[in-house]
Parts: sequence; structure tokens; C-alpha cells
Amino acid sequence: MFDPYSIREDFPILRRTVNGHPIIYFDNAATSQKPRSVIDAMKKFYEENNANIHRAVHTLSQEATELYEEAHKEVASFINAESYEEVVFVKNTTEAINLVAYSWGSRLNPDDEVSVTLMEHHSNIVPWWTLSKFRNFKLKYVDVKGDGTLNYEDLEQQITEKTRFVCVTHVSNVTGVINDIKRISKLAHENDALLLVDGAQSAPHMPVDVKKLGVDFLAFSSHKMLGPTGIGVLYARRELLEEGEPFLFGGGMIKDVCYVQNKGDLDVSWNELPWKFEAGTPNVCGAVGLMEAVRYLRRLGMENVYIHERNLALYALERIEEVGGIRVYGPGKETERCGIIPFNMTGIDSHDLALLLDQFGIMVRSGLHCAQPLHQRLGLKSSVRASFYIYNTREEVDRMVDILNNLSEGLKRH
Ligand SMILES: Cc1ncc(COP(=O)(O)O)c(C=O)c1O
Repeated sequence: MFDPYSIREDFPILRRTVNGHPIIYFDNAATSQKPRSVIDAMKKFYEENNANIHRAVHTLSQEATELYEEAHKEVASFINAESYEEVVFVKNTTEAINLVAYSWGSRLNPDDEVSVTLMEHHSNIVPWWTLSKFRNFKLKYVDVKGDGTLNYEDLEQQITEKTRFVCVTHVSNVTGVINDIKRISKLAHENDALLLVDGAQSAPHMPVDVKKLGVDFLAFSSHKMLGPTGIGVLYARRELLEEGEPFLFGGGMIKDVCYVQNKGDLDVSWNELPWKFEAGTPNVCGAVGLMEAVRYLRRLGMENVYIHERNLALYALERIEEVGGIRVYGPGKETERCGIIPFNMTGIDSHDLALLLDQFGIMVRSGLHCAQPLHQRLGLKSSVRASFYIYNTREEVDRMVDILNNLSEGLKRH
């Protein structure tokens, strides 16, 4: 049985009060809170196993290496990758996407095209835009409909035999809209394009199977899925990693660096996968935390996580719409979506509304959520975003709605 009330017991921070009120944490799309097991695993690592990895023969280094490699295996199995060799640890989703742009995207030429959508987080637009200026290829922007769903007809028209990459988010960080990745994958692959999926808002909240979805690259961040900050994942199909060039160079990513006297030059060969793409000392403790986070989520079951958040989102949609002067964005209840609800209240700026909610211990995000083109497309200056996770409850939604109702009444009187 999925029980958010017993789950809450595992999250020490949820016992805190803010401004005299129990915390209601609705900013999960920005980052999630951490369960005790993740905090303990990281503490244990520093107290018992800390050493650098892949270098020394001593016991602590062996233990740290084992934990680090085990973390790759746990993540590989979480997303159903073929093996841990397809899982590269990076800093976050942003770095994972930049790695793809540098290592594979920098081969693009003026005849090539890349398609991104207008619903992307800046981290899946700006790297491609920057690269397009260097490499002179055409960057195309796939349209989004007024309800925040992807315009598939536009996508179909835009992808041609010139398209090399299709870069799309799995779930919108503004509206919670879930894109049909299987459909996009078919379209991309029929045109010999590679598909990069930004999984920052899907991997933490729903089952993600890289094989079933047919993705070539998948990027996501540990900190949004109960794990620590400073570690994220790039999944890539093995053949791509084998033929791709690294974008960071140094220790850990090389097998041999041999000075050849008669050439006056080095002979260099890259390390095995995935270490070829992990230069320098990695975030070992972060990997331990991420592994524990993944184990926690797997114990709950990702299908259960998804159903809980979807039901909470449907409930919140219904309740928030009752409030006078509130406008909710995104598709209606008939469309499947993750637990993210963007809204505005007439006559009040999004930051002011978020500050008012904070007075009651309610944490929401306000502004553009690093998705300015989407806000422009929806005709919005900014929005308030409530985003849910495994520990959020209907009572918390009710509490927010009560406060919004009071504010709305107050605004009417002025
Ligand atoms: C859809 C999406 N992509 C990318 C990112 C960037 O993630 P990070 O800041 O962890 O790199 C976010 C973060 O909010 C996001 O929601």
C-alpha cells in the first residue's frame, strides 16, 4: 500500500515549521527533499568508506570503488539500460545535455538541423542554440499548443532527413504534460535522427524504460529524485558511447598516456565505458546517495509513485479551480499529467503570491521556472507552480486552497 503519511515519517525536514506553520513543500520540481536512508548512507560513506576510486589498491579505495560501480548498476537497472556501461555520472541534467551537445553535437554541419521544442527547460535549449551559432546548423523550434501540449503535427512537419537530433523533454517542468516519447522516437529514427530526452521531471516520478521508449540519450538529476545535489545521469546507447569523443579530459578517463620518444608525441587511449566520460575524481558520496535514493523509489514502485502524484494533481486541479480569480494552465483533467500545477491569481504578481504562501509555511515556485519560451508561447509573464511528490497529501492541497480562498476574498474587498 502506497501511504504518503508513513512515507512522511522518513523525511526529517518535514517535521520543521516555517513562520510558525508546518512545512508544506510544493517545490518538488525544483528539488526534492531527502529521506533519512539517503542522509544516513552518505554519512556512513564518509565515516566508514571514504577514499578516492579506481586508483589505489588499499581497502578503503576498493570499498569506495565497489560502491561507486554498484551505484551505476543500480541506476542502469532503474531505467532498464543494457548495462552499467551505458550510465555516465555527471553533475546534473544540465551537464548531461551539454555533454551530448559537445561530444556528439559538435560534429554538426551547416546542412544539418536540430529540433527542440518550445516547452523545454532552458538547459535543453541554450546548449543547442549556442552550438548552432558555432557550427552554423539550423535550430528548429517545435510549437506547443495553447493548452501546453506538444504540437505533434508541427513536429512531424519539422523533422526531415536533414534532422540530426530531436531534443525533447519527457515531462514539462511547467505544466506536467507528458510527451509521447515512443511516437517521437519513431519519427526521429525513421529520419535517422538521434533522440535526446530530458528526463529531469520523469525519472523521479514515473517508470522510465529507455528500451521501451526508444531513446538514444536520457538525462536526469539525482537531486530531484530524493538523492543529493551534484550528481546526475547521462544514459546513452552503448554504440554511441563507444564511438563518441569525451568532452572532459584528464585522469580517470584514459587507459594509456604513453610518451613516444621517436615521435616526440603521446599515444593516448581512452578508458572503458563509462569511465571514458567521467574525467577527474567523481562525486563518490553523491553516487552512494543516489543509489540509496533509487532503492527507496524502487521499494515504493514507480508505478505507485506516478499514480499517487497523478491523483493528487487531479484533486488539486479540481480544488484550485474553485478559488475566485485563479487561472490554472495546462491541459484539462482528461489529459495524463504529472503532479505539476501552474497558476496565477488575478491582481497579484506570482512572486508576491509565493511570498504570501510562504508566510503560511507553503513553499511553491514563482517566476518563469527556467522555461521562458513556454511562458511566452502561453502568453504569460510568469506563473506560480505547485509541484508534488511522494510525501504530499490531499490535506496539504486543502490547506493551500483555504489560504488562496482567503487571499482571493481579501483582494476582492480591496
Ligand atoms: C525539465 C528540466 N530539465 C532540466 C532541468 C535542469 O536540471 P538541473 O538544474 O538539475 O541540471 C530541470 C530543472 O528544473 C528541469 O525541470
